[in-house]
Amino acid sequence: MARVFSGIKPTGHLTLGNYLGAVRRWAEVDQHRSDALFCVVDLHALTVEHDPARVLRLSRQAATLLLASGLDPELCTVFLQSHVDEHTRLSYLLECVATDGEMRRMIQYKEKAPRERERGGSVRLSLLTYPVLMAADILAYGADEVPVGEDQTQHVELTRDLAVRFNQRYGHTFVVPRATPPVVAARVMNLQDPTSKMGKSDDSGSGIVHLLDEPAVVRRKVMRAVTDSGRDVEYDREARPGVANLLEILAACTGGDPKALAGDYASYGALKKDTAEAVVEVLGPIRARHRELCADPSYVEGVLRRGAEKARAMARPTVDAVHRAIGLVPAVSEPVPDPVR
Ligand code: TYM
Repeated sequence: MARVFSGIKPTGHLTLGNYLGAVRRWAEVDQHRSDALFCVVDLHALTVEHDPARVLRLSRQAATLLLASGLDPELCTVFLQSHVDEHTRLSYLLECVATDGEMRRMIQYKEKAPRERERGGSVRLSLLTYPVLMAADILAYGADEVPVGEDQTQHVELTRDLAVRFNQRYGHTFVVPRATPPVVAARVMNLQDPTSKMGKSDDSGSGIVHLLDEPAVVRRKVMRAVTDSGRDVEYDREARPGVANLLEILAACTGGDPKALAGDYASYGALKKDTAEAVVEVLGPIRARHRELCADPSYVEGVLRRGAEKARAMARPTVDAVHRAIGLVPAVSEPVPDPVR
């Protein structure tokens, strides 16, 4: 059975992009056909200026939303990254395999570092080394597949490179994983700016649909989506990014094909209306389940505690093997006999 690992970073409220690009498949497909682990990667939320109370709140909320979205702790392992020390243990060892040039070439670093400087802050070293921690997240579990949206595929490529390099240098230790982005909605765009990704960290209102938005809010955001000055409904990501984005969202929500759906519409208004209703329908059960789970926080805590125990037991043998392969003396519980006496 394939091993699957994926994660979500608690840097903002979960969005429709997170759901259609990743979480939905985790719940509908991956957990049923593989040995799957899904992680709220809270350490990754500390790589930029952050408010500790907010990270704490968002980590709990993200875990609750994963369960509300259909992840079933009987079928998969759900946990918080910071509860399993193996991630950071392995991350340092992989830093000894990665190069600084590789890190500086990462698109997300190139985008985020100037933004941090513009805000008047300094760039945290962890923002640069973040992809190595992500590689550790994946490699610690011997994952074969990493279901992510398109924006994370470069990080998975780096993970592959590090795994291959380590195996070549120190002997076969890691499974080399591959990214499995969805066919539709791999990159859901901001409704107000369809040339940029719908990102949860932006938190700038009307172009971003959040999983917990009320139906009226979802309808308003979708109905006000920026399209273009044309009139024909065509699926063309380059020439008509706004319309293409709506068609992708509609297709992902209804299980259709964006190109084929375009033929069903004679106006942008009708497309927006159906897209809004499809999104409302998809999000309704998640909001309801989230409300129920919020009424029982000890259930969520129990799931995360048990998930971390399972995850630790899976990651430890791999990270111990890495220690041995790279030349570290294994930690032993018995005192080592002194050969001189
Ligand atoms: P994050 O938290 O930004 O996003 C979580 C998942 O949602 C996908 N996604 C999208 N898909 C389509 N359209 C969008 N607009 C959109 N926005 C986000 C992401 O591709 C991702 O699959 N570095 C990762 C978290 C991470 C991770 C890992 C993922 C850390 N360690 C190990 C997989 C394996 C991140 O920031 O995802």
